[in-house]
Amino acid sequence: MPGIAIVGAQWGDEGKGKITDLMAEHADVVIRYQGGNNAGHTIVREGETWKFHLIPSGILYPGKSCLIGNGVVVDPKVLLEEIEGLKRRGVDVRGLKISANAHLIMPYHLLLDQAGETRLGDRQIGTTRRGIGPCYADKSARLGIRLQDLLDEKILKQKIAAAMEPKRQSLRPFAKDPALDLHTMTEDYLSYGQRLAPHIADTPPIVWNALDADRNVLYEGAQGALLDIDHGTYPFVTSSNPVAGAACVGAGVGPRDIHEVWGVAKAYVTRVGAGPFPTELFDEVGERIREAGHEFGTTTGRPRRTGWLDLVALRYAARINGLTGLAITKLDVLTGIDPLPVATTYTGPEGARFDHFPYNQSVLHKAEGDYVDRPGWHDDIAGARRWEDLPQTAQDYLAFISDFVGVPIVLVSVGPGREQTIVTDEGRRVMGGGSGVVAVKA
Ligand code: GDP
Ligand code: IMO
Ligand code: MG
Repeated sequence: MPGIAIVGAQWGDEGKGKITDLMAEHADVVIRYQGGNNAGHTIVREGETWKFHLIPSGILYPGKSCLIGNGVVVDPKVLLEEIEGLKRRGVDVRGLKISANAHLIMPYHLLLDQAGETRLGDRQIGTTRRGIGPCYADKSARLGIRLQDLLDEKILKQKIAAAMEPKRQSLRPFAKDPALDLHTMTEDYLSYGQRLAPHIADTPPIVWNALDADRNVLYEGAQGALLDIDHGTYPFVTSSNPVAGAACVGAGVGPRDIHEVWGVAKAYVTRVGAGPFPTELFDEVGERIREAGHEFGTTTGRPRRTGWLDLVALRYAARINGLTGLAITKLDVLTGIDPLPVATTYTGPEGARFDHFPYNQSVLHKAEGDYVDRPGWHDDIAGARRWEDLPQTAQDYLAFISDFVGVPIVLVSVGPGREQTIVTDEGRRVMGGGSGVVAVKA
């Protein structure tokens, strides 16, 4: 540390929330840099469950700066609900600041997201329908409305009218929807603005000051590498860049302000929504993993698709993120499955072998994993707290991943609880800045 990015190395839901919460203990600032409330980050602490969609997973520590960066798209209604929910549970949210430059999800973005999916029919992306894509589209089209616009009624009304104008055609089916009335929308958003005003800030200087003072800053990613709009399985992706490089743009720092990049990956793979998935399981083993891993979306409740660990994709994710460490989660879920197939190459539609992630959409859609079988383990590992506590075959499984991908393992997670974590020597080196052990407390 001081600047460490925590990113998803698969298709999202890898356990970034848990890892960020764990690391936040050693950080002064936690900042979300992209995505919106399509994200769902779950933290389990002392038996209590916390779910965050927009608020950074550092908020449970008093006295930290928890920032929503300019790169995030913010649904103010959802954010206010999340703030209120935390206050009700006694959490101090004074450290929460939202970039004045972050873009707002508007009621028409939600309707356009739904309409877009309906129009695609059986080719739909399976979005979370939270308006993420249409909001980023407006940002790029320079028709976006930002947090700062909430503080000026005249500007807000003008901007909403200008943003709605080119959408008249596509919004026609919703013409009678009261949510689209210009007056009501302006009033609603002004009131959100009033309530959010104490949290609206110029966020980059908060990050710079922490970095300049040699404090630790966590850049918390949402989604995952394979959902990246540039590097993922386009068009079955989200509309932002979850990769670590985007933390610079979305937080307002330079590449030299990111010193470590930790990729979070499950010991298997899941995906929610449509799109290619070369190691997908359609049998009872896939079902078993879904049940054992509680693989149902935090945001939409949809069952997640499950599959074997895909090292072709993970090596690709390591490269595009510049990973310096791997945090492997949900190892406990694989207990009792023996052997454990792991994909190390793909076979394409014409029988061609791929040892790299294919860029061609038609190839990727039909690619299937080729597997090597790794020995499994049968002993319960949920209580493991040190590397040595893991059965030899589990250690070998992790070492195989690390060798193949070429990135050291920093953390291993064996259950949802905060204490169900193994910090490796490499992890300790980074967390402790090279100076001894940093205990991860329960
Ligand atoms: P995120 O979006 O990357 O933060 O991940 P999610 O929170 O959407 O999904 C991960 C889920 O797995 C959450 O319900 C976590 O509580 C849970 N979880 C995290 N790590 C582990 C683990 O090592 N084992 C098990 N069994 N569950 C875990
Ligand atoms: P976290 O941060 C898993 C998926 C959706 C869909 C695609 C596009 O919890 O890991 P969108 O609403 O973003 O336009 O949907 O992306 N998706 C996620 N999948 N975890 C997420 O976030 C996701 N956010 C979006 O299911 O396939
Ligand atoms: Mg999630």
